[in-house]
Amino acid sequence: MKKIGIVGAGAMGSGIAQVAAQSGVEVVLYDVSAQSLERSMAQLRSTLQKLVEKFKLDEAASAAIWQNIRTTTSMAELAESEMVIEAIVEQADVKKKLFVELETIVSPDCVLASNTSSLSITGLASACQHSHRVVGLHFFNPAPLMPLVEIIPALQTSSALPERLHALMIDWKKTPVVAKDTPGFIVNRVARPFYSEALRIYEEGLASMRQIDAAMRHIGFRMGPFELMDLIGNDVNYSVTRSVFEMFYYDPRYRPSITQLKHVEAGWFGRKTGRGYYDYTAPAAEEEPHSERFDFVHERILTMLINEAYDALYLGIASAKDLDLSMTKGVNYPQGLIAWGEAVGRERIAAQMTALYERYQEDRYRLTPALR
Ligand code: NAI
Repeated sequence: MKKIGIVGAGAMGSGIAQVAAQSGVEVVLYDVSAQSLERSMAQLRSTLQKLVEKFKLDEAASAAIWQNIRTTTSMAELAESEMVIEAIVEQADVKKKLFVELETIVSPDCVLASNTSSLSITGLASACQHSHRVVGLHFFNPAPLMPLVEIIPALQTSSALPERLHALMIDWKKTPVVAKDTPGFIVNRVARPFYSEALRIYEEGLASMRQIDAAMRHIGFRMGPFELMDLIGNDVNYSVTRSVFEMFYYDPRYRPSITQLKHVEAGWFGRKTGRGYYDYTAPAAEEEPHSERFDFVHERILTMLINEAYDALYLGIASAKDLDLSMTKGVNYPQGLIAWGEAVGRERIAAQMTALYERYQEDRYRLTPALR
């Protein structure tokens, strides 16, 4: 592909434009807001300058990237695109309306891709006349730095398209994986227990937030769950959990936490509001060292994560290889969860899940058939 269009010049659209332009693709970046476009280009200019200063990019390459991106507030300028990637507001009706309008502008074989992190690709495709060219192409924030891209075919997507996009993403120096069109795709589904089981352990009074964070760092995670939720934003993290829970018809395994809800209600979103689970206006407290007393914390959270990954494998959401790539390249896990499960031992994970189930008698702790 030599020419692509991107709709939405926010955090994601701008990042994706940079990634494509870096691979020599001509990008037309369209947004309804001229202000968004200006902000996006100012940001790109400063990013490119920094990369040149750090010798990560030479002047010529930086100029080439800059020249590859053209901005516009007129949708008609997307007419010659071979693919359009949308990264606008996360609302199904608005995205469907956009795709319907795009179909009147672009050629019938132009790929229509959505960067949605939670909406049904099959639902978006249903709005289109040529629904076989609609696909999910889910980048992670910040797109120029995070390697993972989830490719999500809708029920209607032509069978050749995922493979074609897989090759394209490799050209763009990304790590593509293919995911079934199901709630949360791969990462936002498989990572849920990292947050929810941490909150549950805290709610039960078994360990403090600091102790839980220290336990997870101890086994190689760069950040503990509470630190990470504060970084992502509790509002964002809560709404992802809630949407996955609702889309799974209220499966208790994905149930959101009241503790997190209260933090959202209080406006304690995390770093961006100065307060989340931790207070960022006060001088940072010393990091808690991990104590063996809290080994049960990382064992329990890791067991739940591995069980979730095997369940996704069992249900054909993705291959074992793609499941592992997703967690290491999309959310920086120290190991893929399937590989981790094999290393810990399936019997051990199964025994720990069974013990949790016996203790709580809750469906939340059911063992995946894959490990049974
Ligand atoms: P954002 O709010 O930063 O940017 C959205 C941009 O779209 C704005 O510039 C807005 O003016 C423009 N826009 C809105 N409606 C439009 C329309 N009808 N036509 C043209 N332009 C329109 O949003 P962000 O964070 O970049 O997210 C965009 C999409 O990417 C969403 O679907 C989001 O769920 C998804 N996503 C976001 C991630 C994140 O961490 N922010 C990660 C992965 C996916």
